[in-house]
Amino acid sequence: MIKLDYRNVGLDKVGNEDGLAIQQSFEQYQDQMAAVVKELYETKDQAGGWKRWMNLGYDTQLRKELEAYATSVAGQFDDMVVLGIGGSSLGGYALLRALLHPYWNQLSDEKRQGRPRYHFVENVDGDQIAGLLDVLNPERTLFVVISKSGTTAETMCAFMIAKAWLENALKADEVARHIVAVTDAKAGILRPIAMQEGYQTFEVPDDVGGRFSVFSAVGLLPAVLCGVSLVDIQKGIQDLDTVLQESSLEKNPAAQGALIQYLLYQRGKINSVFMPYSYRLSSVSDWFVQLWAESLGKKHDLGGRVVHVGPTPIRAVGVTDQHSQVQLFNEGPHDKVFTFIEVGQFDRDIEIPANQFSDVPDLNYLNGKPIGRLMNAEFESTRACLTGNRRPNMTITLPRVDAYHFAQLLYLLEVQTAIAGALFQIDPFDQPGVELAKKYTYALMGRKGYEELVPLAKGEKVQVGV
Ligand code: PA5
Repeated sequence: MIKLDYRNVGLDKVGNEDGLAIQQSFEQYQDQMAAVVKELYETKDQAGGWKRWMNLGYDTQLRKELEAYATSVAGQFDDMVVLGIGGSSLGGYALLRALLHPYWNQLSDEKRQGRPRYHFVENVDGDQIAGLLDVLNPERTLFVVISKSGTTAETMCAFMIAKAWLENALKADEVARHIVAVTDAKAGILRPIAMQEGYQTFEVPDDVGGRFSVFSAVGLLPAVLCGVSLVDIQKGIQDLDTVLQESSLEKNPAAQGALIQYLLYQRGKINSVFMPYSYRLSSVSDWFVQLWAESLGKKHDLGGRVVHVGPTPIRAVGVTDQHSQVQLFNEGPHDKVFTFIEVGQFDRDIEIPANQFSDVPDLNYLNGKPIGRLMNAEFESTRACLTGNRRPNMTITLPRVDAYHFAQLLYLLEVQTAIAGALFQIDPFDQPGVELAKKYTYALMGRKGYEELVPLAKGEKVQVGV
């Protein structure tokens, strides 16, 4: 099971000005937190509540359908291209980066056991898309187009380009086999297109929003196509889920994380740094940034009052960012709380050769030591410096980076976000600030029905308060 260590937010570690009286806060908030957790779980199936992501870890039917599809196309594709953006892309990418070989796309077919290389298109950059198509063979490429709404300009534009590219190269009746759509069961534009064109489809279920959809087909389809065990993912979620339903704050790491982040925000720690000490987990930072920012950054509270609330998530990766952002983290403003992700045991370690530069005193302290020891020493020393500099920090430890624990990490953060939403008294499941920019883009691109927004979108007219 993954673990959360919050001791470094305590007064005894970071002082009165920057820390929390943990025990006292837990006692003070125990009843409120128990009520929040109870309500979260009791209302998870409520229509329109956007909490059905909490059921995904138990969806055996979905798992079997995905496994059956992966078996049916096994060996047919050398490359898989995921077309999606935001919640329809970040989770799947983080998952593959964490659970596959770090250089999967460079492995031989034999080492990938016939499973496809993976590519994610999450931008509307002609250089990227044209460059990718240059290196793909249409006969051996599968496109997974993911959009709950089907209206997202970035995804649909990439999809149209991909479809035309396939049509130029393949017989008309061959194209559909190269496209899978993941979209809303009923609503949206992509569903009817997929039905008409005869694509294989999977659902983004009702009441599951993009950034909470990683354990639906959105993340699990790319995963299963590359051979990741969905059984392990679902088992990891189920085992953690029993812990996250605990009403006792002492036992519930999602409630602890949410409360600590919330209380520190009230005390001026308005930035939340997320810093995994692992190359394979580096893309979890991107996924977390979207989850935390889009869920908690809100203009209105649940009562409709203007609050402009929300912690700013900051992406960092250990040890790499020790040589860029850590200077600021240690000595800059006291406005941050840190979440480190520590890996108990790396799958592979390398011994730093004992016979290299052993006569150079400034380097020979490295001789014969495992590289994992250096990683851990750098993590511990950075954490100690930050603590010494009165920077409150927490550590989530994954015993290993595998499907079981990786799923627990993401699920923990999802539940923590939902609980934080309740504490901030905002709706963590909407994103009106994203929708507005989408509408302005439609206006600038000439979509019917958005003409009136053109002057605003061009900046010729400014609507104060938007
Ligand atoms: O988390 C969210 O809701 C958003 O980031 C969406 O996932 C993103 O805007 C893409 O939307 P869609 O899946 O409808 O294309």
